[in-house]
Amino acid sequence: MTSKKTYTRPDTVLAVAGRDPDNNFGIVNPPVYHASTILSPTLDKFENRIPFEGYGYGRNGTPTQKALEDAVAAIEGAHRSIAVQSGLAAVTGAIVGFLKTGDHMLITDNAYGPARRFANTTLKGFGVETTYFDPMIGAGIEKLIQPNTKVVYLEAPGSQTFEVQDVIAAITTCP
Ligand SMILES: Cc1ncc(COP(=O)(O)O)c(C=O)c1O
Repeated sequence: MTSKKTYTRPDTVLAVAGRDPDNNFGIVNPPVYHASTILSPTLDKFENRIPFEGYGYGRNGTPTQKALEDAVAAIEGAHRSIAVQSGLAAVTGAIVGFLKTGDHMLITDNAYGPARRFANTTLKGFGVETTYFDPMIGAGIEKLIQPNTKVVYLEAPGSQTFEVQDVIAAITTCP
């Protein structure tokens, strides 16, 4: 296998993002892989595989999904991205990845309704407390941060009411 090249010019990144013809027989667009069980050369390699690297089971991702994730990460200038099957899976997956019982979360008051329902029912049941804040609070969010605040959930623009939050103020204010 040859290693993937890195490009920096935005136009070139857009043209090549997620594509890896050198490792796909010269095929320009990522082939569509259908997979469930995936073989591993040894049990040791399977049990000690690095999370989110390589492939362990088709439903957890294939090279096709990885191509999309690589493309989004390249376009956004991110370390990497994770593709999931719906917007709500992205919302809930990102939130639960950082929370455990006893934690606190701040959510903008204009958040997508099902995200609020998830906080008010599922997370509440797991012992996670949620505080809603005015989407236009800006740097004032600092006063709402508690020692156990682990997630600050923003939406910009907000659902239905379309406030555009001062995301930079919120991020730079949070410890
Ligand atoms: C802000 C926001 N988050 C999440 C979702 C959920 O997306 P999905 O319907 O793909 O689960 C929506 C859907 O409209 C949305 O507007």
